[in-house]
Amino acid sequence: MSASELISGGSGTRSECKSSHWPGIPGRDSLGQIHIMPVVVSPERAGHSISQMNSQASVLTLPLRYSTPDSWAERALADPLSLLSDHAYLEKKAASNALELLNRWPEPLCPDDWVVTLAAIARDETAHLYSVVRLLSQRGGKLERLHQNPYAGELRKLVRKGAGTGELVDRLLVSALIEARSCERFEVLSRLCVDSELAQFYRSLWSSEFGHYKVFLRLAGEIAAAEEVRVRWQELVADEAEIISSQAPGPRMHSGAG
Ligand SMILES: [Fe+2]
Ligand SMILES: [Fe+2]
Repeated sequence: MSASELISGGSGTRSECKSSHWPGIPGRDSLGQIHIMPVVVSPERAGHSISQMNSQASVLTLPLRYSTPDSWAERALADPLSLLSDHAYLEKKAASNALELLNRWPEPLCPDDWVVTLAAIARDETAHLYSVVRLLSQRGGKLERLHQNPYAGELRKLVRKGAGTGELVDRLLVSALIEARSCERFEVLSRLCVDSELAQFYRSLWSSEFGHYKVFLRLAGEIAAAEEVRVRWQELVADEAEIISSQAPGPRMHSGAG
């Protein structure tokens, strides 16, 4: 069993069940866990993006312990340009994080697929950034010059700095958590956004971020023992639920529900 298989799963906190009719878009079961159906990928695009790594998935689960209520999206979507601006910074940070990790492999040996995988994630995130800033520009919005993401900042504080491979495992697991939470938020936004262009856009990002979440877990499993990764993952999943649920509300991807 791989480390990512060991880590997948977890418990949700809400009891309502929501289903979806979109291929590749999740519904929630009675435990609040999020499941997706297979993502359909055209053959000519196979192998060209991390998101296509999910094409063989049947039922997969996001192991988040806090389930975002629909009321979060209603508040966030009240200011769509600010939400897009925040989203753009999220994609920029995701790209730079992948590039930063690209040459941080643990000594003495770089895992075979480390560099290519992280380069592919950086490419995906840069493409997402381009799409977001283009939408923002078309709609007369502007990228704010300064930006803060207190959610990600709190998660980064959990990284065991100076712990060698442990620090790198934490960075990968925090990256996986941010991807998983973003994935969940895109699903909520895509269901509730009445602007069809934006709804489609959010829907289109879902499978890519899901792929990134799984890839970061896999990389963590390549550099540390499966049990060590599993235990640390469960700790961080619990911490993430507290952090996201305590965020202030607002037009941000990682804001609180209020
Ligand atoms: Fe992205
Ligand atoms: Fe991503």
